[in-house]
Amino acid sequence: MSIQGIDSITYGVEDLAECRRFFLDWGLQLHREAPGRLEFATLNGCQIVVAHKDDAALPPAIEGGSTLREVVWGADSQADVAKCGEAGCADPNGLAIRVRVSQKRKLDIKGVPANTWDSTQRINAPTKVYERAHPVEVGHVVFFTDCMAEMEKFYCARLGFHVSDRYPGRGLFLRGPETGGHHDLFLLQLQPPAPQRGLEHVAFTVRDIHEVFGGGLHISRCGWPTVIGPGRHPVSSAFFWYVKCPAGGMVEYYADEDVLTGAWRPREMAPIPHEFAEWAIDGGLDGNTHRQASGPQGG
Ligand SMILES: [Fe+2]
Repeated sequence: MSIQGIDSITYGVEDLAECRRFFLDWGLQLHREAPGRLEFATLNGCQIVVAHKDDAALPPAIEGGSTLREVVWGADSQADVAKCGEAGCADPNGLAIRVRVSQKRKLDIKGVPANTWDSTQRINAPTKVYERAHPVEVGHVVFFTDCMAEMEKFYCARLGFHVSDRYPGRGLFLRGPETGGHHDLFLLQLQPPAPQRGLEHVAFTVRDIHEVFGGGLHISRCGWPTVIGPGRHPVSSAFFWYVKCPAGGMVEYYADEDVLTGAWRPREMAPIPHEFAEWAIDGGLDGNTHRQASGPQGG
């Protein structure tokens, strides 16, 4: 049985109008709109549902305020879904999860290839400048938990996830398929005095590093605050840009993460700052200048 990735996520939010504006600026497509409920999609059909947090149809919240209320994982076949139990349940952290046959589409879109010293992928072909991002899919979700061992058992033994890497006692990277991107789920151990279980961020996959930059600059120009980015994670090799999200936690644009197979041996790493970021810019870049000497919060 193999979970292929995230098929749908549902937020419960305090301010639906603000979230509507944010996710349109973020680059999602608004497919359906009803009182108290918005349904967005990424390019490959991954769904992002945004409902009012007091909607009685939503699963229970694991923290106060605006946050993620459900993650639906996509599987290849109905037989795989049946193995997981179709009705859905809560994971040990309390988050509602379901498994369904994936409704995401295969896409024929391409990122910009890179010319490296040993490999020329672009000839008579200038790179692309993205005016804004259009995320391909939801690539991973990240939660704070105080029951790491139970979460590892639940996702690995019951849903067939694979451990990619770990910060012992601090963090765990999991992927659904044996061969796939570095992580679909990252769990962070609550450290005192961290207050509670909850959402840390939702990450949206974009095509290449240039779309990370183009998307981040655009969302900045729209007035939404960057938390940190652009930057690069050594642990997954991905380029990132994190933005505060009115639907809860942060959202991330990322590209160029490692792809792992069954031959990969999970590493145990120390949770030191340079494992999070080889380099990163606090507060982001100013999207309105092409000649910045410092970030918008700089001197
Ligand atoms: Fe991330």
